[in-house]
Amino acid sequence: TGKFTYDPGFLSTASCNSSITYIDGDKGELLYRGYPIEQLAQHCDFMDVCYLLLNGELPNVAEKHTFDDLVTKHTMVNEQMNFFLRGFRRDAHPMAVMTGLVGGMSAFYPDSMNLLDKNQRDISAIRLIAKMPTLVAMAYKYGIGAPNIYPKNELSYTANFMRMMFGNPCEEYQVNDVLVRAMDRIFILHADHEQNASTSTVRLCASSGTNPFAAIAAGVACLWGPSHGGANEACLNMLTEIQANGGVEKIGDFIAKVKDKDSGVRLMGFGHRVYKNYDPRAKLMRETCHEVLNELGLHDDPLFKIAMALEKIALEDEYFVKRKLYPNVDFYSGIVQKAIGIPVPLFTAIFALARTVGWIAQLNEMIADPEYKIGRPRQLFNGAAHRNVKPIDQR
Ligand code: CMC
Repeated sequence: TGKFTYDPGFLSTASCNSSITYIDGDKGELLYRGYPIEQLAQHCDFMDVCYLLLNGELPNVAEKHTFDDLVTKHTMVNEQMNFFLRGFRRDAHPMAVMTGLVGGMSAFYPDSMNLLDKNQRDISAIRLIAKMPTLVAMAYKYGIGAPNIYPKNELSYTANFMRMMFGNPCEEYQVNDVLVRAMDRIFILHADHEQNASTSTVRLCASSGTNPFAAIAAGVACLWGPSHGGANEACLNMLTEIQANGGVEKIGDFIAKVKDKDSGVRLMGFGHRVYKNYDPRAKLMRETCHEVLNELGLHDDPLFKIAMALEKIALEDEYFVKRKLYPNVDFYSGIVQKAIGIPVPLFTAIFALARTVGWIAQLNEMIADPEYKIGRPRQLFNGAAHRNVKPIDQR
């Protein structure tokens, strides 16, 4: 050994060349294909961002129309998916269901199993982006025992998702533009984030030449963890726990626990591996958070009061300031989703929906790279040296 460098957590090892997403953690800058996230959040919708991530450029009017149309026409899933879904317990975690359903898509598209064929990759990309909202809404409706709402072609991608989530067959669904815009922004802000754990997982998984659905399912599985996509769920659970233990008045006790390293309690939704000054997505999500709370008249909700008190402490308390622990995007996106009425366990599934396009763009980039090889990390072996097996009665 000695030939390999040990870099736990990939703190200083680049795993690829990439031209998709650029992050400057010190400056708090995030660019998709060169465009600042602030401008994309202000001037574009999620479909523009999907097109941009996949193709490298923003679409013009005609390109956008064609792309929207293509995605819209692939939103339905095979009816057999319903039977697969019914095999799960009703109380199954949506991420368990999503890992299964997305992996299960492999069984429905034998015409696009070959990751190395660009046409097959392109059609699976559209299928995945188009069907993720349908699958997330199905997982939700199944959990509450409600009928599936089929997609409606005249609605935008995000309005369609909201209708599939909250509509019912008995009445016309009223689209609320503020809430749709908030959800669309959640999608935009979560669409890609360079070589994070789930994206690296997708690349590694796809490097074996597996099919696109299997590779994306691996990303979904990785995203589930509380240190990654699961943070928004963990954050809301933390707020609920603080509320159960006395609310804003007792917040000091909780903070004391966070500061005590032995307690193992972390302030969920705070801190980031890369952003050490602030998370630019958090700034945008904070704005959306206040818009949504205003729209729904929820500023006095006790959970949101706790959230705002925590935000204040984290921004002022020396412990957090010294460690550069700022609220991250998931802190605010959890609050927004809760306000919209998304059940907490579904938060990470929505993150997966939004990140699917990023995973696909990264996977495509990897395959187009002439230096691409199957991922095969090395190790520094520190186990037993060569030894001989003794007969069982002598062990
Ligand atoms: N609460 C309390 N203390 C913390 C936290 C936190 N959330 N995060 C880091 N610290 C402390 C940590 O104990 C350490 O202190 P010390 O220097 O005294 O030992 C210091 O800050 C540095 O922490 P670290 O663990 O070395 O930082 P990291 O870069 O490895 O971890 C992180 C980044 C995001 C995993 C971590 O901040 C964390 O666990 N945050 C909570 C979970 C969370 O919100 N994750 C979502 C990230 S954004 C969404 C995404 O991109 O997936």
